Amino acid sequence: MNQSESPVWPEGAGETASPASGPIGVFDSGIGGLTVAAALRELLPAEQIFYIGDTARVPYGGKSRRTIERYSVEIAGLLLAEQAKLIVVACNTASALAVPRLKQLFNLPVQGVIDPGASAAVRSTRNGRIGVIGTRATIASRAYEQAIHDLSSPAQVFAEPCPLLVPLIEEGLFDDPITDQILHRYLDPLLGEGIDTLVLGCTHYPLLRAAIARVAGEGVTLVDSAQNCALAVDEILKNRSLAAPPRQLGNLQVALTDATEGFLRVAEEALELEIGDVLLRAVQTPA
Ligand code: DGL
Repeated sequence: MNQSESPVWPEGAGETASPASGPIGVFDSGIGGLTVAAALRELLPAEQIFYIGDTARVPYGGKSRRTIERYSVEIAGLLLAEQAKLIVVACNTASALAVPRLKQLFNLPVQGVIDPGASAAVRSTRNGRIGVIGTRATIASRAYEQAIHDLSSPAQVFAEPCPLLVPLIEEGLFDDPITDQILHRYLDPLLGEGIDTLVLGCTHYPLLRAAIARVAGEGVTLVDSAQNCALAVDEILKNRSLAAPPRQLGNLQVALTDATEGFLRVAEEALELEIGDVLLRAVQTPA
């Protein structure tokens, strides 16, 4: 590892597990991971959640594995500094490319969103033909194919990168003819393959669920990782005796790595989340 790849986290932070009173640390390249935070809030209302959106360096979706790993390690270090007891990688791109590295470097549970999404898809499909949409990096990694085949070897996976969807979502164009047109461009080839299940393989996409459902039609079940990821987190917390006392009142604290809030308020409204003051956390940005 050279100097520029050095992980940034407090000395020894990964060595001792944070206590059950610590927050669940959640991160995404930006705001999309709030879809996972919302599912966590709903399932685990006693838990404190500390969410970091790496808005200074979003999007991750077109970047290399090396860069995505480096950014993810740095953000995970910031979550450890908040005494996180578990890290949820609420970003498909970072889950697809950086989870092994995080597990290698940090001595605490790390939960990504790929496996929960893959198992939801395998449970949903009737004809074994599963579509997956995501960022370029997620689709190129073939992480969903791998995870789906590990669970169900006969399933066939049809994957399509959808780089224009994140900007449309960030502009709040949830119900717009341009969005529908672009969705047709991406989804028609998958629909032509006879898929009956479509994995929303990017944490932004659940915000576009209604438009995607409209274009995909009734015969296609949409699955995303958020609820299944929350269930997986619940299981880890119970198995490791890390769950917050049930009567504790949980909350959501959001921090961003850039002072501009971007589409945070659009997501807050769409997800009916309560987000108070937003904190700022500094990261190393490219010169
Ligand atoms: N939220 C990210 C994901 O789930 C997509 C946004 C990005 O490209 O950084 O993959």
